[in-house]
Amino acid sequence: MIALGIESTAHTFGVGIVEDKPPYIRADERVSYVPSKGGIHPKEAATFFLNNSLRVLNNALSEANLSIKDVDCIAVALGPGLGPCLRVGATLARALATYFNKPLVPVNHAVAHVEIGKLLTGLKDPLIVYLSGGNTMILAFSDGRYRVFGETLDIALGNFMDAFVRELGLAPPYIVDGKHKLDYCADEGSEFLELPYIVKGQDVSFSGLFTAAIKAFRSGKYRLQDICYSVREIAYSSIVEVSERGLIHTKKLELLVVGGVAASKALQEKFAVISRLRRVKLGIVPPNYAVDNGVMIAWTGLLTFKSGITIEPEKSYVRQRWRIDSVDIPWLS
Ligand code: FE2
Repeated sequence: MIALGIESTAHTFGVGIVEDKPPYIRADERVSYVPSKGGIHPKEAATFFLNNSLRVLNNALSEANLSIKDVDCIAVALGPGLGPCLRVGATLARALATYFNKPLVPVNHAVAHVEIGKLLTGLKDPLIVYLSGGNTMILAFSDGRYRVFGETLDIALGNFMDAFVRELGLAPPYIVDGKHKLDYCADEGSEFLELPYIVKGQDVSFSGLFTAAIKAFRSGKYRLQDICYSVREIAYSSIVEVSERGLIHTKKLELLVVGGVAASKALQEKFAVISRLRRVKLGIVPPNYAVDNGVMIAWTGLLTFKSGITIEPEKSYVRQRWRIDSVDIPWLS
């Protein structure tokens, strides 16, 4: 069985094609919108997607050496994400499903990050730490769904890191050779500054840290590198703290880190330490699939389709705030 998946929730437009047997991935094509300055502009990103979508689709089909007629279902990320971006992927998916008479499969983007992480690390039932530009969540499967055992109360970790280095004048680009500008700057720091460390119960918060760090930067009293170092240590440590508590609470024996921020080596080292201490198996999604891609949508679409779930094109609305804990996961139940 073969699924074609379309991703367009934020800055990446991707088409992936997967099969339900090894080596699973038949095609992986994507393009990313990079804003010339500032953060992501949803309408600009959507226009960029529109201009590139057919080329990416055709490239994926030729990479897989397939025609659209060979595909068993069309999967699409309907949320969560940015409205204008989501609508480009959804429109293409509906058109393909309708014109070629293929089943349309709704995929939650967050579930897709988790499922591709499990596929590529071989973990079966992990505590999941999902860290990206738009999401910061501690998750675990329980009673039919991925339940949230902790999340950010304000901004997501990736968004926090991007906004912070932008404010310091270090970005864009935010990532160079797979490494975030915050990590580059922090690696040169050594002196730890007292800045707000906010963990409330199982949740984290970054807005107080952001404000205090920018204030320290503008005061001119501290080295930029030391500010970055302190900010990174505090932000990453708060995530690791709630992850460790999640492990104790859920008694899971595996720990999976997914999402774009999972590529940070400094963060991976911290997770390696708590995994050793807690004697759990650590899996980190490979960098190429830590970021958004069509393969994860296709793979999750395949799992969803095999569980008998499809959606009528006319009912396939995009859902900008589609929470992971509202999605039934029948393939694990
Ligand atoms: Fe994502």
